[in-house]
Amino acid sequence: MATYSRITGTGSYLPPQRLTNADLAIRLAATGVETSDEWIVERTGIHARHFAAPDVSCSDLGFEAAKNALQAAGLQASDIDLIIVATSTPDMVFPSAACILQSKLGIAGCPAFDIQAVCSGFVYALTVADAMIKTGAASKALVIGTEVFSRILDFSDRATCVLFGDGAGAVVLEASDTPGILASDLHADGKHVGILCVPGHVSGGKVIGDPLLKMDGQAVFKLAVGVLESAARAALAKANMTDQDIDWLIPHQANIRIMQSTAKKLKLPLEKLIVTVDQHGNTSAASIPLALDTSVRSGKIKKGDTLMLEGVGGGFTWGAVLLNY
Ligand code: ACO
Repeated sequence: MATYSRITGTGSYLPPQRLTNADLAIRLAATGVETSDEWIVERTGIHARHFAAPDVSCSDLGFEAAKNALQAAGLQASDIDLIIVATSTPDMVFPSAACILQSKLGIAGCPAFDIQAVCSGFVYALTVADAMIKTGAASKALVIGTEVFSRILDFSDRATCVLFGDGAGAVVLEASDTPGILASDLHADGKHVGILCVPGHVSGGKVIGDPLLKMDGQAVFKLAVGVLESAARAALAKANMTDQDIDWLIPHQANIRIMQSTAKKLKLPLEKLIVTVDQHGNTSAASIPLALDTSVRSGKIKKGDTLMLEGVGGGFTWGAVLLNY
Protein backbone atom coordinates (compact mmCIF):
# COMPACT_ATOMS: atom_id res chain seq x y z
CA MET A 1 0.00 0.00 0.00
CA ALA A 2 1.22 3.45 -0.85
CA THR A 3 2.10 5.90 1.91
CA TYR A 4 1.28 8.94 -0.19
CA SER A 5 -0.29 10.12 -3.42
CA ARG A 6 1.34 12.73 -5.61
CA ILE A 7 0.42 14.78 -8.69
CA THR A 8 2.65 13.64 -11.58
CA GLY A 9 1.00 15.49 -14.45
CA THR A 10 -1.45 18.32 -15.09
CA GLY A 11 -3.50 19.24 -18.15
CA SER A 12 -6.29 21.57 -19.16
CA TYR A 13 -8.45 22.53 -22.08
CA LEU A 14 -10.50 25.58 -23.03
CA PRO A 15 -13.02 25.57 -25.88
CA PRO A 16 -11.84 27.92 -28.66
CA GLN A 17 -14.71 30.44 -28.51
CA ARG A 18 -13.49 33.26 -26.23
CA LEU A 19 -15.82 36.08 -25.27
CA THR A 20 -14.49 39.27 -23.74
CA ASN A 21 -16.81 41.29 -21.51
CA ALA A 22 -17.40 43.61 -24.46
CA ASP A 23 -18.37 40.64 -26.68
CA LEU A 24 -20.77 39.39 -24.02
CA ALA A 25 -22.23 42.87 -23.48
CA ILE A 26 -23.04 43.11 -27.20
CA ARG A 27 -24.63 39.65 -27.17
CA LEU A 28 -26.74 40.48 -24.10
CA ALA A 29 -27.74 43.90 -25.44
CA ALA A 30 -29.42 42.14 -28.37
CA THR A 31 -31.95 40.73 -25.86
CA GLY A 32 -32.30 43.95 -23.87
CA VAL A 33 -29.92 42.95 -21.03
CA GLU A 34 -27.53 45.75 -20.08
CA THR A 35 -24.03 45.21 -18.74
CA SER A 36 -20.55 46.65 -19.22
CA ASP A 37 -16.91 45.67 -19.13
CA GLU A 38 -16.40 48.23 -16.36
CA TRP A 39 -19.08 46.72 -14.07
CA ILE A 40 -17.90 43.14 -14.60
CA VAL A 41 -14.21 43.94 -14.04
CA GLU A 42 -14.82 46.07 -10.97
CA ARG A 43 -17.14 43.59 -9.19
CA THR A 44 -15.53 40.29 -10.27
CA GLY A 45 -12.09 40.76 -11.90
CA ILE A 46 -13.33 38.83 -14.94
CA HIS A 47 -12.24 40.08 -18.39
CA ALA A 48 -13.10 37.07 -20.58
CA ARG A 49 -14.50 33.53 -20.57
CA HIS A 50 -14.72 30.63 -23.01
CA PHE A 51 -17.97 29.01 -24.16
CA ALA A 52 -18.18 25.54 -25.68
CA ALA A 53 -19.86 25.02 -29.06
CA PRO A 54 -23.40 23.56 -28.83
CA ASP A 55 -22.30 20.05 -29.82
CA VAL A 56 -19.40 19.93 -27.33
CA SER A 57 -20.04 18.24 -23.99
CA CYS A 58 -18.45 18.21 -20.56
CA SER A 59 -16.78 14.84 -21.28
CA ASP A 60 -15.32 16.23 -24.54
CA LEU A 61 -13.58 19.06 -22.64
CA GLY A 62 -12.50 16.65 -19.89
CA PHE A 63 -11.11 14.20 -22.45
CA GLU A 64 -8.80 16.87 -23.92
CA ALA A 65 -7.62 17.94 -20.45
CA ALA A 66 -7.06 14.29 -19.46
CA LYS A 67 -4.94 13.62 -22.58
CA ASN A 68 -2.75 16.62 -21.71
CA ALA A 69 -2.35 15.46 -18.10
CA LEU A 70 -1.45 11.92 -19.21
CA GLN A 71 1.17 13.28 -21.59
CA ALA A 72 2.65 15.47 -18.83
CA ALA A 73 2.83 12.42 -16.53
CA GLY A 74 4.41 10.29 -19.27
CA LEU A 75 1.59 7.73 -19.03
CA GLN A 76 -0.78 5.98 -21.43
CA ALA A 77 -4.53 5.89 -20.80
CA SER A 78 -4.16 2.12 -20.27
CA ASP A 79 -1.99 2.81 -17.18
CA ILE A 80 -4.92 4.49 -15.39
CA ASP A 81 -6.81 2.46 -12.77
CA LEU A 82 -9.26 5.08 -11.45
CA ILE A 83 -11.18 7.96 -13.04
CA ILE A 84 -13.01 10.58 -11.00
CA VAL A 85 -14.76 13.46 -12.73
CA ALA A 86 -15.95 16.48 -10.76
CA THR A 87 -18.81 18.18 -12.58
CA SER A 88 -22.26 19.68 -12.17
CA THR A 89 -22.90 19.80 -15.91
CA PRO A 90 -22.51 16.15 -17.01
CA ASP A 91 -23.38 15.01 -20.54
CA MET A 92 -26.34 12.97 -19.29
CA VAL A 93 -28.34 12.35 -16.10
CA PHE A 94 -26.61 8.97 -16.30
CA PRO A 95 -24.25 7.31 -17.05
CA SER A 96 -21.61 9.48 -15.42
CA ALA A 97 -19.33 11.79 -17.39
CA ALA A 98 -16.49 9.64 -15.99
CA CYS A 99 -17.81 6.50 -17.74
CA ILE A 100 -18.28 8.38 -21.02
CA LEU A 101 -14.78 9.86 -20.70
CA GLN A 102 -13.32 6.42 -19.91
CA SER A 103 -14.73 5.15 -23.19
CA LYS A 104 -13.31 8.17 -25.08
CA LEU A 105 -9.91 7.31 -23.60
CA GLY A 106 -10.30 3.83 -25.10
CA ILE A 107 -9.99 2.00 -21.80
CA ALA A 108 -12.33 -0.22 -19.77
CA GLY A 109 -12.52 -1.96 -16.44
CA CYS A 110 -11.20 0.58 -13.95
CA PRO A 111 -13.71 2.30 -11.62
CA ALA A 112 -15.05 5.58 -13.03
CA PHE A 113 -17.53 7.87 -11.30
CA ASP A 114 -18.58 11.50 -10.93
CA ILE A 115 -18.46 13.69 -7.86
CA GLN A 116 -21.07 16.42 -7.55
CA ALA A 117 -19.95 19.09 -5.13
CA VAL A 118 -20.30 22.02 -7.56
CA CYS A 119 -17.35 24.44 -7.27
CA SER A 120 -15.77 22.33 -4.49
CA GLY A 121 -15.94 19.24 -6.74
CA PHE A 122 -12.24 19.13 -7.57
CA VAL A 123 -11.00 19.26 -3.96
CA TYR A 124 -13.59 16.61 -3.06
CA ALA A 125 -12.45 14.42 -6.00
CA LEU A 126 -8.76 14.85 -5.19
CA THR A 127 -9.41 13.89 -1.56
CA VAL A 128 -11.32 10.75 -2.58
CA ALA A 129 -8.61 9.72 -5.08
CA ASP A 130 -5.92 10.30 -2.43
CA ALA A 131 -7.81 8.10 0.05
CA MET A 132 -8.31 5.34 -2.54
CA ILE A 133 -4.62 5.38 -3.43
CA LYS A 134 -3.59 5.27 0.24
CA THR A 135 -5.82 2.23 0.86
CA GLY A 136 -4.44 0.42 -2.20
CA ALA A 137 -7.70 0.62 -4.20
CA ALA A 138 -5.89 2.47 -7.01
CA SER A 139 -2.36 3.50 -7.96
CA LYS A 140 -2.69 5.82 -10.96
CA ALA A 141 -5.77 8.03 -10.95
CA LEU A 142 -7.09 10.62 -13.36
CA VAL A 143 -8.89 13.37 -11.46
CA ILE A 144 -10.72 15.77 -13.74
CA GLY A 145 -12.82 18.89 -13.24
CA THR A 146 -14.86 19.76 -16.32
CA GLU A 147 -17.86 22.01 -16.86
CA VAL A 148 -20.11 23.52 -19.51
CA PHE A 149 -21.78 26.06 -17.23
CA SER A 150 -22.87 28.10 -20.27
CA ARG A 151 -25.65 25.48 -20.66
CA ILE A 152 -27.26 26.30 -17.30
CA LEU A 153 -26.95 30.10 -17.34
CA ASP A 154 -29.97 32.38 -17.43
CA PHE A 155 -28.85 34.96 -20.01
CA SER A 156 -31.66 37.26 -18.92
CA ASP A 157 -30.09 37.51 -15.41
CA ARG A 158 -27.08 39.83 -15.71
CA ALA A 159 -26.08 39.25 -12.07
CA THR A 160 -25.14 35.61 -12.83
CA CYS A 161 -24.62 35.06 -16.58
CA VAL A 162 -21.52 37.30 -16.73
CA LEU A 163 -19.70 35.27 -14.06
CA PHE A 164 -19.25 31.80 -15.57
CA GLY A 165 -17.34 30.05 -18.34
CA ASP A 166 -16.63 26.56 -19.73
CA GLY A 167 -13.40 24.57 -19.47
CA ALA A 168 -11.62 21.55 -18.01
CA GLY A 169 -8.57 20.72 -15.94
CA ALA A 170 -7.07 17.37 -14.97
CA VAL A 171 -4.33 15.83 -12.89
CA VAL A 172 -2.74 12.40 -12.76
CA LEU A 173 -2.41 11.35 -9.12
CA GLU A 174 -0.03 8.45 -8.47
CA ALA A 175 0.96 6.33 -5.50
CA SER A 176 4.25 7.59 -4.12
CA ASP A 177 6.80 6.99 -1.36
CA THR A 178 7.35 10.73 -0.98
CA PRO A 179 4.68 13.16 0.25
CA GLY A 180 2.39 14.80 -2.29
CA ILE A 181 -1.02 15.42 -0.76
CA LEU A 182 -0.33 16.46 2.83
CA ALA A 183 -3.81 17.10 4.22
CA SER A 184 -7.44 17.67 3.22
CA ASP A 185 -10.37 19.29 4.94
CA LEU A 186 -13.87 18.91 3.47
CA HIS A 187 -17.24 20.23 4.62
CA ALA A 188 -20.86 20.73 3.58
CA ASP A 189 -23.89 22.47 5.02
CA GLY A 190 -27.09 21.70 3.15
CA LYS A 191 -29.14 24.40 4.83
CA HIS A 192 -27.68 26.92 2.36
CA VAL A 193 -29.13 25.10 -0.66
CA GLY A 194 -31.29 28.09 -1.59
CA ILE A 195 -28.54 30.69 -2.09
CA LEU A 196 -26.91 28.88 -5.03
CA CYS A 197 -28.75 26.21 -6.95
CA VAL A 198 -30.19 24.91 -10.21
CA PRO A 199 -33.60 23.88 -8.90
CA GLY A 200 -34.93 21.96 -11.93
CA HIS A 201 -34.96 18.18 -12.26
CA VAL A 202 -36.10 15.53 -14.73
CA SER A 203 -39.32 13.63 -14.02
CA GLY A 204 -41.56 11.70 -16.41
CA GLY A 205 -39.33 12.74 -19.29
CA LYS A 206 -39.84 16.46 -18.58
CA VAL A 207 -37.81 19.13 -16.83
CA ILE A 208 -39.69 20.03 -13.65
CA GLY A 209 -38.88 23.43 -12.15
CA ASP A 210 -36.27 25.84 -13.45
CA PRO A 211 -33.12 24.26 -14.94
CA LEU A 212 -31.07 27.49 -14.79
CA LEU A 213 -28.67 28.77 -12.14
CA LYS A 214 -30.01 30.95 -9.30
CA MET A 215 -27.73 32.79 -6.90
CA ASP A 216 -27.90 35.25 -4.03
CA GLY A 217 -24.50 36.80 -4.80
CA GLN A 218 -24.05 38.72 -1.56
CA ALA A 219 -24.95 35.74 0.65
CA VAL A 220 -22.53 33.56 -1.33
CA PHE A 221 -19.80 36.18 -1.02
CA LYS A 222 -20.05 36.41 2.80
CA LEU A 223 -20.16 32.67 3.31
CA ALA A 224 -17.30 31.96 0.87
CA VAL A 225 -14.73 34.25 2.50
CA GLY A 226 -15.29 32.78 5.97
CA VAL A 227 -15.19 29.09 5.03
CA LEU A 228 -12.18 29.45 2.72
CA GLU A 229 -10.11 30.75 5.61
CA SER A 230 -11.28 28.09 8.07
CA ALA A 231 -10.73 25.18 5.65
CA ALA A 232 -7.21 26.37 4.81
CA ARG A 233 -6.33 26.74 8.50
CA ALA A 234 -7.74 23.28 9.29
CA ALA A 235 -5.70 21.64 6.50
CA LEU A 236 -2.54 23.44 7.67
CA ALA A 237 -3.13 22.30 11.26
CA LYS A 238 -3.55 18.67 10.14
CA ALA A 239 -0.15 18.87 8.39
CA ASN A 240 1.51 20.74 11.31
CA MET A 241 2.22 23.66 9.00
CA THR A 242 1.42 27.38 9.04
CA ASP A 243 0.25 29.90 6.45
CA GLN A 244 3.90 30.90 6.01
CA ASP A 245 4.62 27.45 4.49
CA ILE A 246 2.30 28.11 1.54
CA ASP A 247 4.11 28.95 -1.72
CA TRP A 248 0.95 29.30 -3.82
CA LEU A 249 -2.71 29.73 -2.95
CA ILE A 250 -5.06 28.38 -5.63
CA PRO A 251 -8.59 29.20 -4.51
CA HIS A 252 -11.66 28.43 -6.57
CA GLN A 253 -11.63 31.10 -9.28
CA ALA A 254 -15.06 32.67 -8.68
CA ASN A 255 -14.39 36.30 -8.06
CA ILE A 256 -11.15 38.23 -7.54
CA ARG A 257 -12.51 40.00 -4.47
CA ILE A 258 -13.31 36.71 -2.67
CA MET A 259 -9.86 35.38 -3.64
CA GLN A 260 -7.98 38.47 -2.43
CA SER A 261 -9.93 38.56 0.85
CA THR A 262 -8.99 34.92 1.45
CA ALA A 263 -5.29 35.61 0.76
CA LYS A 264 -5.37 38.55 3.17
CA LYS A 265 -7.03 36.48 5.92
CA LEU A 266 -4.28 33.90 5.46
CA LYS A 267 -1.68 36.71 5.66
CA LEU A 268 -0.36 35.83 2.22
CA PRO A 269 0.99 38.50 -0.13
CA LEU A 270 -1.11 38.81 -3.29
CA GLU A 271 1.93 37.64 -5.32
CA LYS A 272 1.27 34.15 -3.91
CA LEU A 273 -2.31 34.13 -5.19
CA ILE A 274 -2.85 32.27 -8.47
CA VAL A 275 -5.36 34.17 -10.60
CA THR A 276 -6.92 32.88 -13.81
CA VAL A 277 -10.50 34.03 -13.18
CA ASP A 278 -9.63 37.14 -15.21
CA GLN A 279 -9.27 35.03 -18.37
CA HIS A 280 -11.52 32.02 -17.64
CA GLY A 281 -14.41 33.36 -15.54
CA ASN A 282 -15.82 30.94 -12.99
CA THR A 283 -15.56 27.42 -14.43
CA SER A 284 -16.88 25.77 -11.24
CA ALA A 285 -15.26 22.32 -10.67
CA ALA A 286 -12.79 22.99 -13.50
CA SER A 287 -11.43 26.23 -12.08
CA ILE A 288 -8.78 24.87 -9.67
CA PRO A 289 -7.18 22.29 -12.00
CA LEU A 290 -7.32 24.84 -14.86
CA ALA A 291 -5.52 27.42 -12.69
CA LEU A 292 -3.03 24.77 -11.53
CA ASP A 293 -2.17 23.60 -15.04
CA THR A 294 -1.93 27.15 -16.39
CA SER A 295 0.55 28.05 -13.64
CA VAL A 296 2.58 24.85 -14.00
CA ARG A 297 2.90 25.36 -17.75
CA SER A 298 3.83 29.03 -17.40
CA GLY A 299 6.65 28.00 -15.04
CA LYS A 300 5.19 29.82 -12.03
CA ILE A 301 4.59 26.65 -10.00
CA LYS A 302 7.66 24.43 -9.70
CA LYS A 303 8.30 20.90 -8.43
CA GLY A 304 8.52 20.93 -4.63
CA ASP A 305 6.29 23.99 -4.13
CA THR A 306 3.67 23.83 -1.38
CA LEU A 307 0.19 24.51 -2.76
CA MET A 308 -3.07 25.26 -0.99
CA LEU A 309 -6.06 24.37 -3.20
CA GLU A 310 -9.44 25.62 -1.99
CA GLY A 311 -12.98 25.15 -3.22
CA VAL A 312 -16.33 26.58 -2.21
CA GLY A 313 -19.66 26.21 -3.93
CA GLY A 314 -23.28 25.17 -4.03
CA GLY A 315 -24.51 22.81 -1.37
CA PHE A 316 -22.98 24.63 0.39
CA THR A 317 -19.75 22.68 0.08
CA TRP A 318 -16.21 23.77 0.82
CA GLY A 319 -12.79 22.31 1.39
CA ALA A 320 -9.03 22.58 1.08
CA VAL A 321 -6.21 20.31 -0.08
CA LEU A 322 -2.65 21.10 0.99
CA LEU A 323 0.00 19.44 -1.15
CA ASN A 324 3.60 19.28 -2.11
CA TYR A 325 3.72 19.58 -5.90
N1 ACO B 1 -23.88 44.52 -15.19
C1 ACO B 1 -24.29 45.71 -14.75
N2 ACO B 1 -24.98 45.87 -13.60
C2 ACO B 1 -25.25 44.77 -12.89
C3 ACO B 1 -24.86 43.49 -13.29
C4 ACO B 1 -24.15 43.39 -14.50
N3 ACO B 1 -23.70 42.20 -14.97
N4 ACO B 1 -25.27 42.59 -12.37
C5 ACO B 1 -25.92 43.27 -11.41
N5 ACO B 1 -25.91 44.60 -11.72
C6 ACO B 1 -26.47 45.71 -10.97
C7 ACO B 1 -27.68 45.30 -10.14
O1 ACO B 1 -28.84 45.31 -10.92
C8 ACO B 1 -27.68 46.37 -9.07
O2 ACO B 1 -28.25 47.53 -9.59
P1 ACO B 1 -29.18 48.44 -8.68
O3 ACO B 1 -28.29 48.95 -7.58
O4 ACO B 1 -29.61 49.51 -9.62
O5 ACO B 1 -30.27 47.55 -8.18
C9 ACO B 1 -26.21 46.63 -8.85
O6 ACO B 1 -25.52 46.16 -10.01
C10 ACO B 1 -25.67 45.93 -7.63
O7 ACO B 1 -26.08 44.58 -7.66
P2 ACO B 1 -25.61 43.57 -6.57
O8 ACO B 1 -26.14 42.21 -6.87
O9 ACO B 1 -25.88 44.15 -5.23
O10 ACO B 1 -24.04 43.61 -6.84
P3 ACO B 1 -22.88 43.07 -5.96
O11 ACO B 1 -21.97 44.18 -5.63
O12 ACO B 1 -23.36 42.19 -4.86
O13 ACO B 1 -22.12 42.16 -7.01
C11 ACO B 1 -21.77 39.85 -7.48
C12 ACO B 1 -22.75 41.01 -7.53
C13 ACO B 1 -20.59 40.16 -8.40
C14 ACO B 1 -22.48 38.58 -7.97
C15 ACO B 1 -21.29 39.71 -6.04
O14 ACO B 1 -22.36 39.60 -5.14
C16 ACO B 1 -20.41 38.55 -5.86
O15 ACO B 1 -19.30 38.55 -6.32
N6 ACO B 1 -20.88 37.49 -5.17
C17 ACO B 1 -20.14 36.28 -5.02
C18 ACO B 1 -20.82 35.31 -5.84
C19 ACO B 1 -19.90 34.53 -6.72
O16 ACO B 1 -18.77 34.82 -6.99
N7 ACO B 1 -20.49 33.49 -7.14
C20 ACO B 1 -19.84 32.59 -8.01
C21 ACO B 1 -20.56 31.32 -7.95
S1 ACO B 1 -20.46 30.65 -6.39
C22 ACO B 1 -19.04 30.04 -6.27
O17 ACO B 1 -18.42 29.73 -7.24
C23 ACO B 1 -18.61 29.82 -4.94
